[in-house]
Amino acid sequence: MKITKRTFDAVIVGAGGAGLRAALQLSESGLKTAVLTKVFPTRSHTVAAQGGVAASLGNSEEDHWHWHMYDTVKGSDWLGDQDAIEFMCRKANEVVIELEHYGMPFDRTDAGKIYQRPFGGHMSNFGEKPVRRSCAAADRTGHAMLHALYQRNVRANTQFFVEWMALDLIRDAEGEVLGVTALEMETGEIVAFQSKATIFATGGAGRIYHSSTNAFINTGDGLGMAARAGIPLEDMEFWQFHPTGVAGAGVLITEGVRGEGGILRNSSGERFMERYAPNAKDLASRDVVSRAMVTEINEGRGCGPNKDFVLLDITHLDPKVIMQRLPGIREISIQFAGTDPIKEPIPVVPTCHYQMGGIPTNYSGQVVAPRGSSMSVAVPGFYAAGECACASVHGANRLGTNSLLDLLVFGKSAGETAVEDVKKSTKAHKDLPQEAIERTLERINRLDTQRDGAGVHESRLAMQRTMQNHCGVFRFADKLKEGVSKILDVQKDVQRTVIKDKSKVFNTARIEALELENLIEVAVATMISAEARKESRGAHVRDDAPDTAERPNGRDDQNWLKHTLWFKEGNRLDYKSVKLTPLTVPTIELKKRAY
Ligand code: FUM
Repeated sequence: MKITKRTFDAVIVGAGGAGLRAALQLSESGLKTAVLTKVFPTRSHTVAAQGGVAASLGNSEEDHWHWHMYDTVKGSDWLGDQDAIEFMCRKANEVVIELEHYGMPFDRTDAGKIYQRPFGGHMSNFGEKPVRRSCAAADRTGHAMLHALYQRNVRANTQFFVEWMALDLIRDAEGEVLGVTALEMETGEIVAFQSKATIFATGGAGRIYHSSTNAFINTGDGLGMAARAGIPLEDMEFWQFHPTGVAGAGVLITEGVRGEGGILRNSSGERFMERYAPNAKDLASRDVVSRAMVTEINEGRGCGPNKDFVLLDITHLDPKVIMQRLPGIREISIQFAGTDPIKEPIPVVPTCHYQMGGIPTNYSGQVVAPRGSSMSVAVPGFYAAGECACASVHGANRLGTNSLLDLLVFGKSAGETAVEDVKKSTKAHKDLPQEAIERTLERINRLDTQRDGAGVHESRLAMQRTMQNHCGVFRFADKLKEGVSKILDVQKDVQRTVIKDKSKVFNTARIEALELENLIEVAVATMISAEARKESRGAHVRDDAPDTAERPNGRDDQNWLKHTLWFKEGNRLDYKSVKLTPLTVPTIELKKRAY
């Protein structure tokens, strides 16, 4: 079957912070650039980022990019690549000041500089004490960022395809990426987008879990497309559980609340983080705080009738600070928890928030995948940035507000690399291989015509429950093993998904079915990678790998200081080494992690 073809210099999938930052680079260089997005750009999930973007501006106290780099390596539990981490931390000030010049309405200090607040794991002088490093626009930093970037893109003539869902990568026999197939959500029309550079900025896949701070659109579309095209997914066992999701609702309460002085308390009112992280306390890194909260709950010190949450207390703060710095949080708390945080603490539980792993890239934004005997060769024409990518700067655990930094730095660098590659190529666009397009059409046709399978809702729920119960904050060897077999069963059901209610809401149901096909790839990659990693590191903590003198924090650096690569074909796992050599400074040496 023939379908319409549209041709661009560059196609970007996703219009969150990473996609918009990359698009800007391309459009401002005069390249014909298309951005495909499932939702209007300013509704992308970056909008939910609340507390800030990390940069060592030092506006309120002394700070340095090297301290930031140290904190990020330590936060990653030494699984982050130190070249990429140095690159990101050194670029931070530049990308934040650029945003300021684009008109981003940051809060201000009395001296008129960008306002900065402390965040978990960000310390001064190589781990000494918390530092004010997160540049904030109240508790709506992501929202402000999206608006600044979107407006700038409109000025630069970026062409937006709003409510379009990318379906599959178009890759030729040599492995070069030549664009994507995509579906217009309103009409159901399928179009091939041909491009010299294809950049994925599709965000995360937090919807594989039952309780998540993630938007419904976060369905791992980029990861699913990459996996189907033979690209491995890296470090998928590492998922961040944000300490403060509203209990029962999962909605994010920014860590900025603790940055402004908020305190976590158990049922006896104790500030329990003093026991788990005597130095950083409530501002320890997220994996540490989430585990402490779950331990308090498991040991019977949780709050409420079922003792299943803890309290985030800001009643001691001046209400003026809450109204000025945390207005959105007050609103969320009133709406979703039924409590006004000026008067009462907020009930909170750890909630799935962020995927540290993703499509493997280098710090220039190129997707790198094994080819022949080499473990990391750039895939021609293919780039990725933001949460869908693994650069890898977050390793086994990300620090708060390094996500907005990641998407700015690597969105820009992916854009810069793509501009360079497109401009130096003198050849015309290659012809699109018909087989790649047929594969998309067959997938759609199978979904549309399948009978007698499982419904989308049932399979999605089964997947989310399996992930929540078998691959959560604490992990258990037997549960992981059982989880692998359960998630593979769910995958079989997903392969036989039936779209119900075709007559009423066919396109919406079809989109949900297509999204589920992406989510399940991520869930399978996660469970298989997690079962295989026989150590504790960062957010991956197993009962059979405890903290001992020989294995600090349960890490097994001798055998497991390496990145996981999961391949869809045969659910095969491979590993590649962590880059321990930074660009210009000495290696930050391994040690026990404590806050
Ligand atoms: O807590 C927050 O405001 C979230 C920030 C982040 O995930 O980086």
